[in-house]
Amino acid sequence: MDTRSWRFGEGTAMTQRVLVGYATRTGSTTGVAEAIGRTLGERGFAVDVKPLRECPSLEGYDACVLGSAINGARWLPEATAWLASQAEPLREMPFSAFCVHSMNGGDGEKETRKRLAYLDSVRGVVQPAAEGFFLGKGPAADDTSLVARWAFKAFGGTAEGDSRDWEKIRAWAERLPLGDVGAA
Ligand SMILES: Cc1cc2nc3c(=O)[nH]c(=O)nc-3n(C[C@H](O)[C@H](O)[C@H](O)COP(=O)(O)O)c2cc1C
Repeated sequence: MDTRSWRFGEGTAMTQRVLVGYATRTGSTTGVAEAIGRTLGERGFAVDVKPLRECPSLEGYDACVLGSAINGARWLPEATAWLASQAEPLREMPFSAFCVHSMNGGDGEKETRKRLAYLDSVRGVVQPAAEGFFLGKGPAADDTSLVARWAFKAFGGTAEGDSRDWEKIRAWAERLPLGDVGAA
């Protein structure tokens, strides 16, 4: 599993520090977190991208962006646990949240409602200033059978193969409200 860490925006005059924490099972959220961190670094923030599985400390950060793969219509357990453990400081700083998922990506009323519900348990703990929903990786022709892909679509699957929309991810990161320093 790809659980790398990155540092972006080092050496800039800005001192505003942002933690981008993420949780993944099969690695597609890792690239999304990296793209968000890179974009924030370009905006002038000093950014650390870290896997939540390593329980990073929030000490010294001014803002936080958290994201997780969706399994069973919710964030992964290590992401939910870390959020709960840091709820107090997170309520005092700019905080945004994102999901990486492969079902319910459409614009219809039912899909939108199901997609928004992925963050219900997060909102119950800390209300994010911004929320991002990004398609990750669904079953692809080379790794699953036709029947498996059909079943996936029948249950609301939207993403076939790697469906990460890098433009959409970067555009979200460019607009994130993270305080006045480094803001685009
Ligand atoms: C066990 C399991 C459960 C999943 N449940 C959902 C779900 O409820 N809703 C959804 O949109 N995607 C669901 N997915 C799809 C993943 O969220 C998607 O493949 C995502 O890209 C995985 O991110 P990761 O590679 O960082 O683990 C599920 C995937 C697995 C393996």
